[in-house]
Amino acid sequence: MILITGSTGLLGSTLVPKFKAQGRAVATHARQANADYTADLSSKNETFSLLNKLKPSVIINLVGLTSVERCQDYANESYLINTRTVENMAQWIIETEANAHLIQISTDQVYDGACEHTEDQITLTNNYAFSKYAGELAALRVPSTILRTNFVGRSKVGNRESLTDWVYNSLTSGKHVQVLKDVYFSPLSMATLVEMIELVVEKKPLGIFNLGSHDGMSKADFDFAFADYLNLPTATMTRIDASQATFLKAYRPKDMRMDNSKFENTLGVKLPSLIDQIKSVAKEYDAIT
Ligand SMILES: NC(=O)c1ccc[n+]([C@@H]2O[C@H](COP(=O)([O-])OP(=O)(O)OC[C@H]3O[C@@H](n4cnc5c(N)ncnc54)[C@H](OP(=O)(O)O)[C@@H]3O)[C@@H](O)[C@H]2O)c1
Repeated sequence: MILITGSTGLLGSTLVPKFKAQGRAVATHARQANADYTADLSSKNETFSLLNKLKPSVIINLVGLTSVERCQDYANESYLINTRTVENMAQWIIETEANAHLIQISTDQVYDGACEHTEDQITLTNNYAFSKYAGELAALRVPSTILRTNFVGRSKVGNRESLTDWVYNSLTSGKHVQVLKDVYFSPLSMATLVEMIELVVEKKPLGIFNLGSHDGMSKADFDFAFADYLNLPTATMTRIDASQATFLKAYRPKDMRMDNSKFENTLGVKLPSLIDQIKSVAKEYDAIT
């Protein structure tokens, strides 16, 4: 059985319906509601009680505190949600000698500095990155696949907006937005990411893997290209440098692009270019325009 923890969030909103449609034996979890099971996984007791009941063979861990600003302001909360939860799950696998594989979703925020980063080129610059990296170290104590990623696409959950939701909603309502021309990334669409997670469930490769698109670009170029594919008006969107972004308090890495060779070589797949991912994500919004 596959347990999907943190299933009610942004990524879970694409992953859960796809896995269920495939007829997989899936149990969903969240902290508060709208899932088969609820538990606060920062509590060792609640984690052990859930895992003892379900005895999953695979755990796909989507639990996270993803607000970079909140992680910066509340360091212990970021530790509890991004690190302690993984420590508890890994400890359950160790103490009960469970035959379970952990798939840990991590982040491209562990990188900075101008290049396509390989897995060993870590630069930690904010509490979100520190707490996610510490979560990786916890996951490495047990049989696990750690996927460093970033993703875009249409959210299927009301209270969580993706980057592309934000651009779409802002431009269709004529809101003025500033987009960063000196921050680079290489995300996948959630649809592609979920396909790759399916592959990881089958093959269970061990270790840390970058999982992004090829030919990353600046966030500003991404936002304009996305708007262009949807013929959205862009007069209200302005390119700025991160140093001018007064709305960002915590430091953001300037370059999070990833070298995906290890994932591609190990899993035998070719990942798409970012421009191709933008085209396919735009189609998700085309359906509502
Ligand atoms: N969003 C991005 O752009 C992005 C980019 C790169 C990597 N990631 C990583 O991808 C993963 C999924 O991200 P997401 O955007 O889908 O997250 P999300 O929308 O914020 O959802 C987080 C999930 O974690 C659960 N959760 C939070 N604290 C918990 C706790 N103490 N115990 C148990 N469950 C808890 C939440 O449940 P409740 O709602 O019930 O509290 C929710 O189901 C995260 O690990 C994140 O770090 C995200």
